[in-house]
Amino acid sequence: MAVSLHDIAKAAKVDVSTVSRALSNAYGIRRATREKVLAIANRVGYRPNRLAQGLATGRSRTLGLVISDIRNPFFAELARGAEDAAFAAGYDLVLCNSDLDPAKQTQYVHSLQEKRVAGILMNTVAGMTRGLQQELAKWDVPVVLFNRPPTGSNFSTVTADNFRGGFVAGNYLIRLGHRSIALLCGRPQHGNLTERAKGFMKAVHPARKGVVAVVLRGPHTYQGGHEAAKKILESHRKVTAIFAANDAMAFGVIHAIHQKGLSVPEDLSVLGFDNVELSEIIRPPLTTIHQPKYEMGQAAVEILLKLGKQRDTHMPENRVFGIKLVERQSCRAL
Ligand code: RIB
Repeated sequence: MAVSLHDIAKAAKVDVSTVSRALSNAYGIRRATREKVLAIANRVGYRPNRLAQGLATGRSRTLGLVISDIRNPFFAELARGAEDAAFAAGYDLVLCNSDLDPAKQTQYVHSLQEKRVAGILMNTVAGMTRGLQQELAKWDVPVVLFNRPPTGSNFSTVTADNFRGGFVAGNYLIRLGHRSIALLCGRPQHGNLTERAKGFMKAVHPARKGVVAVVLRGPHTYQGGHEAAKKILESHRKVTAIFAANDAMAFGVIHAIHQKGLSVPEDLSVLGFDNVELSEIIRPPLTTIHQPKYEMGQAAVEILLKLGKQRDTHMPENRVFGIKLVERQSCRAL
């Protein structure tokens, strides 16, 4: 049978409110009393009733994490940082894959609201109706967006410097002597990928440097990269380098090149973005732009919990993380 606060109070010879305050580490409890209560709670295997606690506070100690797809290793690393930060603060994390489907995204947000979560981390609100976005922004539970450029709205954001990342990528390929470069930049509604494309175009601006940039849009997934590379190999034979605006696409590109019997970087250079763990392991190891995924996940939770405490006074916070080029073996000088 479940042990209750009453059982512990009886054993410790104190009242129930003293037990409750001792267990929640509240002020005003003598050290000896707290230690006695904790020792009894441990001995009898007491587990707090989260449902009852939630009813009392109106919130559960749970955070929602809504991402597009955990199969993209970028999200796995970010989720790990978020979970570690949530765990350290005494919160659980519920994972929701939205597939960037507006209906699914909306349903998850409603379901998290109904679960009375203490906050939601989301990669985007772009697919949701304006009405729901406004409702979320005014909601009494904080929402932090990560992986999207600052929205200028009421939401706090955590992101990497995507524009700079694209710029560094473009400059790097130019420095290696590439003059016909393909850019795989995802679909236009993805602000972070679009920023990378803008930075890249600034670096390789055709009028200034005589560079031909072939731009391909499509899903920013392994399959998306694979399909795009097949098109390049068939119809853009002068291309000598491909900048894939995330590592998942870059992996698809490398696979398509190998399937054609060609080599990376001897026949085509490939540059990624993210620096997920796999990028070091694949062959050839991928040259890529690093963004601090784990730290971004941690930061998103920290901001969320801070906002939760200062809901009435907070100003949205926009935290931008630096990027860096990680040179491995998938790009070569011409
Ligand atoms: O939306 C997913 C992509 O955005 C990831 O691959 C990563 O690049 C992120 O910033």
